[in-house]
Amino acid sequence: MILSTREMLKKAQKDGYAVPAFNIHNLETLQVVVETAHEMRSPVIIAGTPSTITDYAGPDYIKAMAEVAAGKYDIPIAIHLDHFEDVNEIKKDIDIGFRSCMIDASKHEFEENIAIVKEVVDYAHKFDTTVEAELGKLGGREDDLVVDEKDTMYTNPDDAAEFVERTGVDSLAVAIGTAHGLYKGEAKLDFERLKEIRNKVSIPLVLHGASDVPDELVKKAISLGICKVNVATDLKIPFSSAVKEFFEVHPEESDPRKYMTPGKEAMKKIVKHKIEVCGSANRY
Ligand code: 13P
Repeated sequence: MILSTREMLKKAQKDGYAVPAFNIHNLETLQVVVETAHEMRSPVIIAGTPSTITDYAGPDYIKAMAEVAAGKYDIPIAIHLDHFEDVNEIKKDIDIGFRSCMIDASKHEFEENIAIVKEVVDYAHKFDTTVEAELGKLGGREDDLVVDEKDTMYTNPDDAAEFVERTGVDSLAVAIGTAHGLYKGEAKLDFERLKEIRNKVSIPLVLHGASDVPDELVKKAISLGICKVNVATDLKIPFSSAVKEFFEVHPEESDPRKYMTPGKEAMKKIVKHKIEVCGSANRY
């Protein structure tokens, strides 16, 4: 069964760990995520951006693969629409069975962000679908969404409380210094701000852009109330590096089963490590 993220995030919040959300792109990357989570008895969120789900793989294929995974393993597995900006696209995907989504209206002004998120929440909750929204802006790049790092705006704790109250959203992605992709310098997280948000907002908080952030900082963010950690870039790099290395040694090879396997193995090590950092192993 395709699950929403409601129960898994509530339990994470209560027990003080985070559920990892891994961005996948195809069958192979999805397999690595669910197989590793199963081995480690961790709840897991399979996430896909619009350019993966809508443009590359197709929502019906992704949903079918997630359904197979959810039926195969006895751990909580959710499939999540990540950084969707198009309300109609979200509604269509809920109609075909997706039960967890993020509506990213963070590029809009506060009132407009609220109005867009509220429209998704009103629709999604009729289908027991959970909704994540973002307030503030992250630096870096997530698919087509480019935010100038200088323009990065952190989440204001008072605004966050009002935003959650008025939208009825289920979880909130906060901007506290992380960026999508790799960092130019060292990642610096505003933990005081996170504490203040946690004091004013009771729903699960989400950390985007967790790649290339030192483990200790991610762990500290979790100890201060983050219950979902999003990882994409840190998986893509080892996968593609292992495939490139494979072709350096075997330039004549053309069999995808041969060249994808080292990519999967390299990715698996990182998925394992991130589950450890999230503290989500052996929770089920
Ligand atoms: P990274 O690519 O920095 O891991 O960000 C992933 C993310 O936040 C997906 O929503």
